[in-house]
Amino acid sequence: MKEKILVTGGTGYIGSHTVVELQNAGYEVIIIDNLSNSNADVVDNIEKVSGIRPAFEKLDCLDYNGLDALFTKYPGIKAIIHFAASKAVGESVEKPLLYYRNNLVSLINILELMPKHGVEGIVFSSSCTVYGQPDILPVTEEAPIKKAESPYGNTKQINEEIIRDTVASGAPINAILLRYFNPIGAHPTALLGELPNGVPQNLIPYLTQTAIGIREKLSVFGDDYNTPDGSCIRDFINVVDLAKAHVVAIGRILEKKQKEKVEVFNIGTGRGLSVLELIHAFEKATGVKLNYQIVGRRAGDIEKVWANPDKANNELGWKAEVGIEDTLLSAWKWQQKLKEKLP
Ligand code: WQD
Repeated sequence: MKEKILVTGGTGYIGSHTVVELQNAGYEVIIIDNLSNSNADVVDNIEKVSGIRPAFEKLDCLDYNGLDALFTKYPGIKAIIHFAASKAVGESVEKPLLYYRNNLVSLINILELMPKHGVEGIVFSSSCTVYGQPDILPVTEEAPIKKAESPYGNTKQINEEIIRDTVASGAPINAILLRYFNPIGAHPTALLGELPNGVPQNLIPYLTQTAIGIREKLSVFGDDYNTPDGSCIRDFINVVDLAKAHVVAIGRILEKKQKEKVEVFNIGTGRGLSVLELIHAFEKATGVKLNYQIVGRRAGDIEKVWANPDKANNELGWKAEVGIEDTLLSAWKWQQKLKEKLP
């Protein structure tokens, strides 16, 4: 029998890739999404990639009664992967209450409804942002949680605490918190990827839009950091690799292999790459020369962060596999595909 998994935010960037990997692993997937930052065509593309059409319901996780009805309509959901959240750091500074409402109330609704409908597991999308600037690199899961730099980051920290407190209260819930580093790239078929929403704030969409001519120049925010080339360092993780981590986490929960009822794993490659190194890797992988300039630092940026993924490698049995050049090529293919669709 195929176990049923509910994926909230399943038409989004990481969600859509995860749905495909869940289907490849034999799970039956039900997607809910409010389509605030994605569109329903993604369901068609998921079907093209996996050969299986997932169930899809347009639903906002803030809608408690709607969620309740969904669990009744699809009985027997075993676990949830909760992606649905607002995720733009800058916007969260301007609209903190929107972020606190969306990101906190959604999780609270889900956690309240899980026991009622016999759903035993949840995999939660957390972020390396909870570490702030770590004192020790590569950063392990034991590193202290630093005060969040933005309301968005704070919602990730509070959500982790909400899950821990709920499980500690005796709720029949098992949880895995995945702390993602910097997810990039697209599906190798170029059928799934990150949909641009206005002017991109993140590095890769801005970079590929510059390479294709939508933007004139990529600004590199700072070359005077305490790093070998002066630009910031990140751990860029391929989105398909990241998606696979969720499938492994679901299996671990359902097969009752967890050592604790709430477990946390870093999901990164273990390699730090600077912004300038990434630009050069993109140029090498694609043969496209990138127009960029060094500008001043961006407020709130962490100087350097990369994962110690040993716990995920050893206990979860998951490892990042796709190299940076293939990842950047997939992002480039996706950008080219998006251009074809322009009117
Ligand atoms: C990466 C590096 C920039 C744009 C954020 C969130 C995090 C996570 C992923 C989200 C930095 C530099 C960027 C540009 C640049 N979660 N940069 N020029 O800030 O590491 O992480 O996104 O959903 O929680 O904080 O990612 O891609 O914005 O930046 O030089 O035009 O690229 O300064 O060093 P970040 P990013």
